[in-house]
Amino acid sequence: MAKSPSGWSAGWGIKKRACDRANGNIGGLMDWDEFSNRPVWEYELKLEPSELKLGHFVRKMNRPWQETDFPLQGVLVDSLEIKRWFQEHCSWVIVDLDRSPNKYRPARYRAPQPSGNGEAEDSHAIQILRRSPINQLTLTRAINEYQRLDRQAEELIKQIELSGPMDVPTAARTVDHVAEAMEENPAALVWLTRIKRQDRYTAQHCINVAILCMGLAVGLEWSRKEIREVGLAGLLHDLGKVKVDGEILRKPGRLTVTEFNEVKEHCRYGYEMLLEDELVSRNVAEAVLCHHEQPDGKGYPQGLTGAAIPPMARLVAVVDAYDAITSNRSYDPARSHHEALGILWKRRGAQFDTHTVESLIRFMGWVTPGTLVVLNTGQLAVVLESPSQRGLRPLVALLTRNGEDWELGLSVDLDSEESKQSTRPLGIEQVLPDGHQGIDIGKLSEQMAAARAGP
Ligand SMILES: [Fe+2]
Repeated sequence: MAKSPSGWSAGWGIKKRACDRANGNIGGLMDWDEFSNRPVWEYELKLEPSELKLGHFVRKMNRPWQETDFPLQGVLVDSLEIKRWFQEHCSWVIVDLDRSPNKYRPARYRAPQPSGNGEAEDSHAIQILRRSPINQLTLTRAINEYQRLDRQAEELIKQIELSGPMDVPTAARTVDHVAEAMEENPAALVWLTRIKRQDRYTAQHCINVAILCMGLAVGLEWSRKEIREVGLAGLLHDLGKVKVDGEILRKPGRLTVTEFNEVKEHCRYGYEMLLEDELVSRNVAEAVLCHHEQPDGKGYPQGLTGAAIPPMARLVAVVDAYDAITSNRSYDPARSHHEALGILWKRRGAQFDTHTVESLIRFMGWVTPGTLVVLNTGQLAVVLESPSQRGLRPLVALLTRNGEDWELGLSVDLDSEESKQSTRPLGIEQVLPDGHQGIDIGKLSEQMAAARAGP
């Protein structure tokens, strides 16, 4: 935490003590706001600019407003550009939570919880999806990054099909932007991975694998460099398929042994293509080479076992399988999120790395944002947020039919339904596969981003 500069004005004395608390110097002082009759630290946070979140309202910083281009004294951080400005020009800022759509506060500002209530688990990075909200602000930002990644994936596929040079640096920069958005709010990006359009399977699979790889890496507290590397490996994992005969890849029926051996070569082809590019790290190339290796040694191309498989390859393998299982493919219909987790769980230790499977399950949760569900009334709904303390009783939005399309209806907190004195509280009956009855998460996302939603 940056040190407070000297020269606080007299009027800021009360705030100074609030900031001492932020620095851990609580020292028995209780700063009281006489107007709203509550402690100041309940609504003001002193943060380093790197701690700012989208949706925070900055009401003060360590330089006069007159020295900035901001027209008013106070600014809403609604883009990463604004956050970057604060990072480049300030050593600390004061956030006013009362005026912030995003009420996020760092752990040091949260009231201590009694032990044994799951707080340790809730605050763990792997639970990050349960703590990040889906609303107009976060979804709009996520859609921008998703579309940028989408264009990049299409461009790469085109370059590959034309056997032209691949623009890996641009792909890497795009992944960097998505990684930044992922660290800000993973739930909105993970929600967008539920978009499954069969006609765009190849591009969408690459995008989804890249996003989910980065999300899981954030949950596992990998370094920023590793998060970006695994995102790029996820985006490029099947790159080598460009050198495999298209007839074989498109063949609807069972492959012959010779044909399957040819398909298996895509790992090595991709690895060799990436090795030629000096801007691609060895970690990324090795993850691409080893993404079909299995802990039991029955994978390919080298038949590696257990710890000999690079960690990044183990992560790509699990996420690749998860997204493929939950997508409609020519030879296999989409399975639900639950079914996919069940399949991965059964094959843990043999086909997939046990720790990575367990981590994916804890990261995504049993009802992850964007999951389609049927309630016990027969109504269809989509999961908005699923804080871990609510278990299987997330916040959902009811879906209503409008002609051919579906629209987001009322939001229902299934947790509060549970506490109602009802013999049959509203609850989830069944989890559905993505794209069920033509429900398009992409369209629903645009609806939600266009509407004014609460924090
Ligand atoms: Fe592959």
